Amino acid sequence: MHQIIMNLCSNAVHAMPQGGVLGIALVRVRFGAPVAFSHGALGNGDFVRLTVKDTGIGIPADVLERIFNPFFTTRRAGEGTGLGLSLVDGIVREYGGGIDVQTAPGEGTRFDVYLPVTDAPPASHEHGRESLPHGDGQVVLLVDDEDTLVTLGEEVLAELGYEPVGFRSSIAAWEALLTEPNRFDVVITDQTMPEPTGLALAARIRTLRPGLPVILYSGFSNTTLERDAREEGVLAVLRKPLRQADIAEALARAFQPASSH
Ligand SMILES: Nc1ncnc2c1ncn2[C@@H]1O[C@H](COP(=O)(O)OP(=O)(O)OP(=O)(O)O)[C@@H](O)[C@H]1O
Ligand SMILES: [Mg+2]
Repeated sequence: MHQIIMNLCSNAVHAMPQGGVLGIALVRVRFGAPVAFSHGALGNGDFVRLTVKDTGIGIPADVLERIFNPFFTTRRAGEGTGLGLSLVDGIVREYGGGIDVQTAPGEGTRFDVYLPVTDAPPASHEHGRESLPHGDGQVVLLVDDEDTLVTLGEEVLAELGYEPVGFRSSIAAWEALLTEPNRFDVVITDQTMPEPTGLALAARIRTLRPGLPVILYSGFSNTTLERDAREEGVLAVLRKPLRQADIAEALARAFQPASSH
């Protein structure tokens, strides 16, 4: 579900470079007869419908035909993998659901994801957020050049019991560190940013405040990056998209009493 929502919302945000309204809704629906969608069909029965709609650029007909194809993207090379919707499609199919897309160029797009209602008991909460390690008000410096990721990250960190302080550029983060080096208890940074990169920032922090734990995240898994990060004393390298559990665990490691290292 997390991946479905994140991918649809990220597409919606990209479709509204000038801003707009992102709508998300969840309702239960019943089909008395089979229905056909723009993408797939469903038999009758009870479903939950997740709607993600935007007031963005819309999707032209020739593009609409191909949006679910793996690697199909209209974004610039290096910006989109074109895997977002094919992943969503795969997950929805696996659950026996369907997707309906309505779009009008210049007006916006609406994705309706239908998933069958089930009587099965909910999965165990073993790995739920209740069982995640929580913080105790430690101040976390978070830096990412993507605005939405800073906002989202701050929410996740606050939910985990930390005190987030977000920055939209590594330069701003570095200036804050220089001004008040002891204000922060841990740093979480994106790798790919205009100079200094996350790794370069980690190197600077190491000179300024050697004991300050740094957690780095990146969109690419890359053994060179992991090795370089380790050499700079980086505590953990996480993959994007960031999962709350990964953040919680990396932070817990940062604050582990030295004796249990
Ligand atoms: N809400 C939307 N509004 C307009 N176009 C969309 C929308 N959602 C998807 N698209 C179009 O469908 C294409 C494929 O989307 P998909 O999520 O599969 O890949 P992507 O967003 O390009 O790349 P990635 O998901 O890896 O960042 C997009 O490049 C875009 O052209
Ligand atoms: Mg996408």
